[in-house]
Amino acid sequence: MDVIQVRGGRQLRGRVAVAGSKNGALPLLASALLCETPVTLARVPRLADVTSMLRVLRSLGMTWKRTGTGEVTLENGRPSSGAVPAELAGRLRASLCVLGPLLARGRSVRLPLPGGCRIGDRPVDLHLRGLAALGADLVLCGGIIRGRAAGRLRCARINLCGERGPTVTGTANVVCAAALARGTTHLIGAAQEPEIADLVAWLNACGARIAQVGSEIVIDGVECLAGGKHTILPDRIEAATLAIAAAITGGEVLLTELMPAQLDAVWTALQAMGVTVARQSNQVLIKRDGPLLPIRVAARPYPAFPTDVQAPLSSLTLLAAGSSVLRDEVFPERWGQVSALRKLGGRIATIPGGIVVRGSFGLRGAPVQARDLRSAGALVLAGLAAAGTTTVRGVTHLDRGYESLLEKLQTLGADVSRAPLLPTAITPIRPWRSGRMFTARDADPCAFGRHLAPRNGGSVW
Ligand code: EPZ
Repeated sequence: MDVIQVRGGRQLRGRVAVAGSKNGALPLLASALLCETPVTLARVPRLADVTSMLRVLRSLGMTWKRTGTGEVTLENGRPSSGAVPAELAGRLRASLCVLGPLLARGRSVRLPLPGGCRIGDRPVDLHLRGLAALGADLVLCGGIIRGRAAGRLRCARINLCGERGPTVTGTANVVCAAALARGTTHLIGAAQEPEIADLVAWLNACGARIAQVGSEIVIDGVECLAGGKHTILPDRIEAATLAIAAAITGGEVLLTELMPAQLDAVWTALQAMGVTVARQSNQVLIKRDGPLLPIRVAARPYPAFPTDVQAPLSSLTLLAAGSSVLRDEVFPERWGQVSALRKLGGRIATIPGGIVVRGSFGLRGAPVQARDLRSAGALVLAGLAAAGTTTVRGVTHLDRGYESLLEKLQTLGADVSRAPLLPTAITPIRPWRSGRMFTARDADPCAFGRHLAPRNGGSVW
C-alpha cells in the first residue's frame, strides 16, 4: 500500500487538461445495459471506480474492451442471472445505477447495497420509490436489493426530491428505467447536475425521447434503444480541485478542456476569496498573487456550490486572513478532512452541519490519513501549502476518483510522489519549542487548545 509524499512551498505554474468525468462516466456505462447494439464511450477516465463498474457490468453479461486511449466499447452478451457479487457492488456507490437499466430490459436483479465514500447517511429509498412507481417489484432485505419487472415498465408521475434535495444517481436510475417504459413519465424534483444532462443527451442519441427543463424531466418511453458513440463530459470536480491547487500555492495555472459554465458557483467563491479567474471558451486561467480572504459557503445541489468541492475548498480557507464558514446541506456529516487538517495546523471548529475555519496560521507538514475521495484531494492540496513534508495515507481513495492527479500536479511543478508505506514508520518525536518533548496532544493545536478551553465550552481561540 502506498502513501503520498507532498513537499510544500512550490507555486504551481503551467497548463493542465481536465479528464473525463467520473460521475458522468459511471451512469453512462450502466446505461449501456439498455442498448441493443454496441456502445462506445470516449474520454473514459482511468479510475478505480470505472474499473469496478466495468467488472459489475461483466458480471451482468456485458463484454467490453478498451478500444483506444480513454475509449471503451461495450456490448450486451448473454444476460446473466442479474446477481451482482457483493464484493463488486460494495466497491462503489454507482453500482446502484444498474438497477434502472436492468429493470427496463425486464431482467431480474439481485444487488447488494452499494459502497462508496463514507460521507454520511446514503440511503437508497428514493431510487426504490422511483423505480417501484414505474411498476418494478423491489424488496430491500438483509442488505440486498431484489428487483424484477413483471412485463414492461409503465409510465408514472414521480417526485424524486428527498429531504436533502434531489438524488443524482437516483435520477439517472429512473430516467434509464422510464426510457423504455410504456407511456410518458413525468419526473419532478430531478437532479440538475450536468452529468444528468449528459446522460439525457446520450440516451436521446440512442433513440430515447427525453426532455429536461430544470428539475423536471419528461420521458416518452420507446420500444428499444440502439447503441452508438458518446464523449463523456469533462470532470468539473477535478477541474475545481486543480483550480484550488493553483490558488493554494499562489500560482498561475491554465485549465483546459473543461466546461467553465458548469462551475459558476466555484468561480464565484474563488473570486470572493481574492483569486483571479479568467474564463475563455473551454479554458480557465486561475491566478493568485495576493492575500486570501475568508468566505462563507453552503454546499447545495447544482447549480449551487458542489458538495464534492467542499473539502478541497476547506483546505484553501486555512490560508485566508480571517474566519470562514463552510456548510454542507447535501451531506451534513461530510467532514472527514477536518481532523487531518487540524494535524497540519488548521484551526477548525465544528458547528451543526458545518465548520468554522480560522485561517492564516500557517500549515506544517505531518503524517495524515485520508478518509474518503474528496478528503484525500483536500489533504494533498493542504500539503502543497504546508511547510515541510506531508505524508497522506489512503491513496486508494484518491485513485478511485482523480485520474493521474499526482502526475498532473507534478507537471505543474509540485513536489509530490508516491512512496511505499514503511511498515515501521514512526512519527519522529521532535523537541518542543520550550525544550519539553513534543507529544501527540500538541500535534493537534485545537486538541491542545481544547485542553485549555474556557470552562463555559467557548471557542478555543
Ligand atoms: C452523487 O452521489 C455523486 N456520486 C457524489 O459524488 C455527489 O457527492 C452526490 O451525487 C451529490 O452531488 C456519483 O455520481 C457516483 P445523491 P449520489 O443521491 O447520487 C440523499 C464523489 O465524491 N438521498 O445525489 O449517491 C443523500 O443522503 C461522490 O464523486 C436520499 O435521501 O448522491 C444525500 O443527502 C461522493 N435517498 C442527497 O440525497 C436516496 O435514495 C444527495 O444524494 C438517495 C439519496
